[in-house]
Amino acid sequence: MTDSDRRIYVTGAAGLIGSNVVQALLTDGHAVIGIDNFWRGTQANIRQLSAHSKFVFRHADLAADQRWFISRTLSPVLATCSRTSGRYSRRTC
Ligand SMILES: NC(=O)c1ccc[n+]([C@@H]2O[C@H](COP(=O)([O-])OP(=O)(O)OC[C@H]3O[C@@H](n4cnc5c(N)ncnc54)[C@H](O)[C@@H]3O)[C@@H](O)[C@H]2O)c1
Repeated sequence: MTDSDRRIYVTGAAGLIGSNVVQALLTDGHAVIGIDNFWRGTQANIRQLSAHSKFVFRHADLAADQRWFISRTLSPVLATCSRTSGRYSRRTC
């Protein structure tokens, strides 16, 4: 696998921070796989991103299904998924 084939995984991609991280990575020319279960994130947050040729979105619950991380090579993962309630936040993947 070459650098140009490499994908960066962003978990919580439909959330506030995740969707902005995806946008920044695409702007920098990276290929991105975004994962979210829409527990809190929204379709609206990824609508514009979905039109990008280097963005793939997977609807998955990472607490139950981590197959998206199975890869022949190590891939960078930016984890932004969490459950937030008021001032409290809990990692969920
Ligand atoms: N927003 C801020 O100003 C801010 C500031 C400092 C730190 N943080 C931290 O950054 C992280 C992300 O914040 P945010 O504002 O983007 O939150 P957010 O709720 O908008 O995004 C989190 C995303 O994770 C997804 N998610 C949750 N559990 C999942 C699971 N099991 N599988 C797949 N997706 C899952 C949710 O659906 C959501 O889209 C949190 O840990 C938060 O505490 C946020």
